[in-house]
Parts: sequence; C-alpha cells; structure tokens
Amino acid sequence: MRAAIFVGQDQPLSIEDVEAMPPGPSDVVVTVGASGVCHSDLSVIHGYVPLPPPTILGHEGTGVIEEVGPEVVGLKKGDRVIASFTPACGTCFWCLQDQSNLCEQSFAYGMIPRAKRGDGSISSTFTGLGTFSDVMTVNQASVVKVESDLPDEQLALIGCGVTTGVGAALNTARITPGSSVAVIGCGGVGQAVIQGARIAGAGRIIAVDPVELKRKTAEQQGATDLVDPGQGDSVSQVQALTGGRGVDYAFEVIGLPETVVQAYGMARRGGTAVVVGMPRMDSQVTLPGFQLFYDEKKLLGCVYGSAQVKRDFQRLIGLIETGRLDVGSMVSARIGLDDVNDAFRAMEAGEVIRSVIV
Ligand code: APR
Ligand code: ZN
Ligand code: ZN
Repeated sequence: MRAAIFVGQDQPLSIEDVEAMPPGPSDVVVTVGASGVCHSDLSVIHGYVPLPPPTILGHEGTGVIEEVGPEVVGLKKGDRVIASFTPACGTCFWCLQDQSNLCEQSFAYGMIPRAKRGDGSISSTFTGLGTFSDVMTVNQASVVKVESDLPDEQLALIGCGVTTGVGAALNTARITPGSSVAVIGCGGVGQAVIQGARIAGAGRIIAVDPVELKRKTAEQQGATDLVDPGQGDSVSQVQALTGGRGVDYAFEVIGLPETVVQAYGMARRGGTAVVVGMPRMDSQVTLPGFQLFYDEKKLLGCVYGSAQVKRDFQRLIGLIETGRLDVGSMVSARIGLDDVNDAFRAMEAGEVIRSVIV
C-alpha cells in the first residue's frame, strides 16, 4: 500500500510503499475512497500537536470495508464507511453520556503500529486512522457505516470538516432561529459552521476572513455580511454591524489564541463564544477577568462539533441529499496522494477551501 507519512517537523510528507501490519481481531481493513486535507494535519507537520514520527497522516476520509476481524460486530465486507477521528467505543464513560467525541480511546488508537516502512521502521497513524493512504487498518470503533450514493469526495469531508463545523453550530452552540452569528476563519471548517448557522435559521451570519476567496465562498454558503480583518479590527467591525452589542454566537475556527480572544470580544453580553479551531498544545488564552464575570458570556470548547458520529454522520448525509447542506462546493481541488504536500502549500496560500485526495 502507498501512504503519506509524517517523518519530522516541517518536513514534507514522505509518500512511500509500505507493508500493512496484520489486522487485529477487532479491526477492519478499509480501501480508502477519498481523503480531505485538513488544517489539523498541517498542525502536526508544524509540531503544534506533538506527534512522534513516523505516522501516516490524514483523519478525514471515507472508503469501503474489505476485511473484518473475527470480533467485529455490525460491519461487513462491502460496507461503505466514514472514518471518525475520535473512535466511538460505545462503552466508556463518555460514550455512555452521549459524548462519544470525547471517547477515552481517542489517544490509544493513534499509538497502534499499522505499517512497516522500507527501512524497517514501524509507522502508527494520526488519530488511529491515517487516511492519506490507499488502504487503512483501523479499529471498528473508528468507522461508521453509512447508507448513501453521494460521491466519496463529499462523504470524506463529513469525517472532519463538515461534522466539526455543522456540529459546532447545531450541537455545541445550539444556534436558535433569528440569532446573529460571527465566524472567524472561513476555511473548510469555517464554511461548514456558516452552513450550520444557516441551517439553524440564524438571522445574520458575519464571515470574517482576510482572504477574498474565502469571503466570497462564505457568501455562497449563507453569510449575510463579510468582514476583512485587513480593513480594521475584526471585533469593532462586527460590533458596528450589530448595534455595538456584538453577536449572539461567535465561532473561532482557526486555532489562534488572539482570534479566540476576538471571538470572546465579538460575543454580546450574555452571548456565546465557541472555540472550534485547534490551538497549539503549548498555547495560552488570556481573557479580561472583569468581563468574564460581568458580561456573563459563555465560552465553549468544541471538539469534533460535539458530534455523536454514529448519529450525526447519517444525519449530515440526509442534509446533503436533500440539498440543505452543500458539500460539493467545498471541494476546490481533486488531487492524487503524490500531490498532498502541494495541497498543504495551497492551504497556507489561501487558494483552496478543501483539497481532496481521490
Ligand atoms: N482572522 C480571520 N481569519 C483568519 C485569520 C484571522 N486573523 N487568520 C487566518 N484566517 C483564515 C484563513 O484565511 C483560512 O481561511 O482562517 C482560515 C483557516 O482555514 P483552513 O486553513 O482551511 O483550516 P480548516 O481546515 O478550516 O481548520 C480550521 O479547525 O479543525 C480545526 O485544526 C483545525 O484549527 C484548525 C481549524
Ligand atoms: Zn480535521
Ligand atoms: Zn468511548
């Protein structure tokens, strides 16, 4: 099998032939149909999330089951699945509180050896997936069987960006109809937040991004107002659009402490700021202490859109199939595995919403 492997900080991924390790009794082997290139993979390359190399990257993908281990329940060869970058084991404390996005197996599966490289070294996989590959072996808890005729490139994006973004709006924030919303950062995930806000019936949706392509796409996805941080302080611009009050819900979808503080500043008194982006592991966020008390704002963390993947993947498919959620327009480029390093360059250059390896 071929895979794109993280071999060291700020180095290009190494695209190599590797030998798959034999699957365990509760594993499934999946032929990968498509894999999105998400910013979190880039954060690993930059060392913002310390991950020991070698590791096959990619955590947003879909495919078809080729083989199941003897202890696998409810999945069979030929099933169409979407990979879930947090497993949903179904039996841990969190899974039993309907918080499978916090499943206690989250880190464990990323440590499992999955491929042997030509030099004899053993590679694990990012989040227990490693979708930047033509075949992946994963625990059964890391895939969700879905029923759909949608193209792979759309199902792949459900694996991270769509679920994270739409879930942030619907599950984490629970946006109510008529609300005002600001979204800071309109990449793949931010566009999905905008669409989630639209689906929730938000009144005003303010998209904040310095890149014109992102703002234009945001408008197509449902943004009613566009803010360019290059034209002045984002918080002041959002306040000016909301009678000086700020918005009911502000989403940070980049992963920078300064924009987390901006999201907090954009939320109105009594409003809600949601941290959707993944800040680097060693970062700190400083907020004004008095306001934290007096303005009674809510600051919510949001991992994987607070999604319950076994419920939400199929729900999102329903929204796409009925034309309420437009994932097709989020795919800017279809690429081969060999082009993955260029996809990261395009991401950093602001040229794409999502590149998808097909
Ligand atoms: N203000 C507003 N937008 C900004 C700013 C800023 N100061 N700086 C960067 N951006 C925009 C970029 O122009 C880009 O459109 O943020 C967007 C980030 O998008 P992507 O790089 O496509 O990232 P995405 O894959 O959407 O992920 C966003 O969510 O899952 C996490 O780890 C992921 O933290 C990352 C976040
Ligand atoms: Zn992601
Ligand atoms: Zn669990």
